[in-house]
Amino acid sequence: MFNPESMQKKSRTPEEIRKNSERANADFGETSEGDGTKEKDSVFPTAFMTARCFAEQTQIPNAKELYKIFLEKSGLEKEINALGDIRTPHFMELRYLMTEKILRSSLENGEISQVIELASGFTPHSINMLATEQEIETYIENDFAVNLKMKQLAVNDFISGIPVVFIPGNIVDSATWSKFEGQLEGKPVGIFCEGLMMYLSREAQIKLLKNVKELLAKYGGYFMHEDILKYHPELKENPRFNRITSQIKKVSGTGALDESFSQDDIKRFYEEQGFIVDRIDEKAELSIDTYPEDVRGDAVELLNAGFKMWKLSLPKEK
Ligand SMILES: C[S@@+](CC[C@H](N)C(=O)[O-])C[C@H]1O[C@@H](n2cnc3c(N)ncnc32)[C@H](O)[C@@H]1O
Repeated sequence: MFNPESMQKKSRTPEEIRKNSERANADFGETSEGDGTKEKDSVFPTAFMTARCFAEQTQIPNAKELYKIFLEKSGLEKEINALGDIRTPHFMELRYLMTEKILRSSLENGEISQVIELASGFTPHSINMLATEQEIETYIENDFAVNLKMKQLAVNDFISGIPVVFIPGNIVDSATWSKFEGQLEGKPVGIFCEGLMMYLSREAQIKLLKNVKELLAKYGGYFMHEDILKYHPELKENPRFNRITSQIKKVSGTGALDESFSQDDIKRFYEEQGFIVDRIDEKAELSIDTYPEDVRGDAVELLNAGFKMWKLSLPKEK
């Protein structure tokens, strides 16, 4: 059983650190061939922005410590800072807090006992959830190998022996999902992603949902993601929300952000894919005091914008 005591940061011997590097290299391969660099698209650096934002502008536990190790290991500080100032902490922190709130409640009431974090980037979810939720039997993190390798090195450096399974791979490919299954027990799973759905075309979403459906049909549980701006056409002309979209567009360089769907369209789309759709209000206590002063008002506006988490599950068999 996982012991929260081991979450304490402790100094590690060079031998332990070497073992962790070997493990990450063995899992992902050391050369650029086969490390996912080829399959990555321009969305992958967007994960750096969230990590920097959490470390510099929020009170999210362990974000600063993890980010520091990540910078030391990757040597990417200059490149990350060159992505520009972060003007959207409210946007990233709200989804982070809401996801944990829902996962924690469903772990505690027995709805799920396993977790899959898709496209996990550099979030400290696994560390923070495993520290406090004894109910978690399996925690899987996934991203393109190029990001996940750095994440695994940083997480292992922060806490030795954390029981997270790191599975690299494209989430639209069924091969990635077969690897998830290889790690799961026959119990319900909470699958989630943050900061991903807005970058996926409709075609990619359909492929992702097909994989989700097959997994939920075997294990039970749900798939969840945060509400996103392209599902709120009524906010398109609002300059503050526009600023969020143009900042993430600049870093990701993807056109999928320009699409626009009404909430009814999306609900219908998810139902057509075979899901029961639940909505949960996005309300959380943000660390507004540590945000840059001129964006604090944006946080209040986001909390009043009517965002609701999307939680999808399969109909119960009769
Ligand atoms: C905006 S970041 C979000 C990262 C993290 N969830 C967060 O909230 O900070 C988007 C992430 O999705 C990953 N990603 C994008 N498309 C993916 C795909 N098809 N399969 C796996 N990961 C993907 C990127 O590599 C990147 O880490």
